[in-house]
Amino acid sequence: MNSEKTENVSSVTKLSVNINKVATIRNARGGNIPDVVQVALDCGKFGADGITVHPRPDERHIRYEDVRLLRGRLAVEFNIEGNPVSRFMRLVLEVKPHQVTLVPDEAGALTSDAGWNTVTHCSFLSDIVKGLKQSGIRTSLFTGTDLRMIENAAKTGTDRIELYTGPYARQYAQDREAAIRPFREAALFALSCGLEVNAGHDLSLANLRYFIAQIPSIKEVSIGHALISDALYYGLEKTIRYYKEQIEPAAGDDVPQP
Ligand code: PXP
Repeated sequence: MNSEKTENVSSVTKLSVNINKVATIRNARGGNIPDVVQVALDCGKFGADGITVHPRPDERHIRYEDVRLLRGRLAVEFNIEGNPVSRFMRLVLEVKPHQVTLVPDEAGALTSDAGWNTVTHCSFLSDIVKGLKQSGIRTSLFTGTDLRMIENAAKTGTDRIELYTGPYARQYAQDREAAIRPFREAALFALSCGLEVNAGHDLSLANLRYFIAQIPSIKEVSIGHALISDALYYGLEKTIRYYKEQIEPAAGDDVPQP
């Protein structure tokens, strides 16, 4: 596949801001500074298309209570990520976000660093997906670029997959064409299986524009660590604008190029 060719698909990728890191700062001191709900509302006001939270079992950043407080407050899409253990499932079925992204992370994992083995977990995931869809919640399964895993993801009945972009981000600086190749192939294959495709992990101002230019059919990117870090320098409002400009570049953009 020629990685210089772009897809003949026009769609505008949505930016969902992952606010876990905001909760990490709050939790460092107790109290409610910064106010996670206010930050989520402001992200929407500043142009984000969605908010993502990832309540982990140890609640070291977003807490289950934060998720309940966000319920019904957002004017933008709400995406909740996590491993579908029973407590997580009770939460999402209560809160009913627009989308739930199922992630196979271990309890103590530093961050999500691998997608599902959709072959081994096909029947488990199918049941979970069915339950979520019956409640009117769109589903997405976190996957790598292995085509067999994507083919099996489709068999679970999920609406979308989210491609784990860590490997892309790691290889980008050395060889971006090689870095994007498996992702283009995976995204095109997923589309051919009837799946919509999200992407996330380690996306940043350095690597986002190329990713979207090469795979414009991506429905949504969810970005946390780099975006919240950039906000320390540029402020949240400008940072969200810069990220949106990576997705939809226009004449006169003043995006800083790292
Ligand atoms: N997608 C998933 C499934 C994640 O677990 C995370 C991190 O919480 C992200 C996307 C966002 O990754 P990053 O913080 O590196 O932007």
